[in-house]
Amino acid sequence: MNMSSDETPSGVKTVVVPAAGMGTRFLPATKTVPKELLPVVDTPGIELIAEEASVLGASRLAIITAPNKPELLRHFGQFPNLVDTLAERGKDEQVAKVRRAGDLIEPVAVEQAEPLGLGHAVGLAESVLDADEDAFAVMLPDDLVLPMGVMEKMAKVRAELGGSVLCAFEVAPEEVYNYGVFDVEEIAEGADLPADQVKRVVGMVEKPDPADAPSNFVAAGRYLLDRAVFDALGRIEPGKGGELQLTDAIELMIKEGHPVHVVVHDGKRHDLGNPAGYIPACVDFGLSHPKYGPGLKKAITAILAEHEAAEAESEAGGN
Ligand code: G1P
Repeated sequence: MNMSSDETPSGVKTVVVPAAGMGTRFLPATKTVPKELLPVVDTPGIELIAEEASVLGASRLAIITAPNKPELLRHFGQFPNLVDTLAERGKDEQVAKVRRAGDLIEPVAVEQAEPLGLGHAVGLAESVLDADEDAFAVMLPDDLVLPMGVMEKMAKVRAELGGSVLCAFEVAPEEVYNYGVFDVEEIAEGADLPADQVKRVVGMVEKPDPADAPSNFVAAGRYLLDRAVFDALGRIEPGKGGELQLTDAIELMIKEGHPVHVVVHDGKRHDLGNPAGYIPACVDFGLSHPKYGPGLKKAITAILAEHEAAEAESEAGGN
């Protein structure tokens, strides 16, 4: 298949990052700090996404923001005074950290005035795509999909099979109600495709009851979408939660014959969208950090021992 925007190996020029949410699960922090700027060790989630987009070869990060979240774009700015002060003090490592986000990729803000859903947010990105962009990526900043590189596999699948390609991962059946869930079929072995990792999608449903779920393969916040999705997004009705759902547009495309496949991710994933997932992400990144890892391991071991001792004591007291 020929892709026109193929200056990059993946053919992806634009990565869309829906980031207009209110971050209610992180209140009170998110009264003044956008959820996407909360640090994983020292780097905000949005900068981790920018890194993934840059490694993919994309040149533009289309950040869908809310009117009260200007700090998101500001994070990609130059900060000349800060850079000068740090440079004067010989703090080169810190200068590099200040510059990194802006050097990774060019950010473009698209304002979503009202929270009308993920489908609505993605639809707004059409205005920033160039005429020759047949496809674009969506990366949800709540999802860290590790190790990086799944989008590259998805781009290979699109090059071979066309259409749109999403990232799937398997969850326990009782957890599917949190996700977009795929109805999948096995595909025949392709020339370049590991058949166990690639499946055809014959249906998709947003956050079903576990009893009605077609499988336990769920959407992991990485999408490589054909431009045709904008037309589908313009034709869907509000769905789950009264919002315009990206899942419903993809389901509509499937029903109309558009090829959709998933790459089943075989690594790990962190959910930065709520404290229960954000804290383990910080621990995971912290333990891998050359400076903080060894000390953190000792600290966690001591904290665990303390909690276990307290639990044992309260159990003994209760008996
Ligand atoms: C969104 C999508 C859902 C997907 C999930 C992945 O839901 O609507 O299909 O599985 O992201 O994180 P949200 O978590 O924003 O409610």
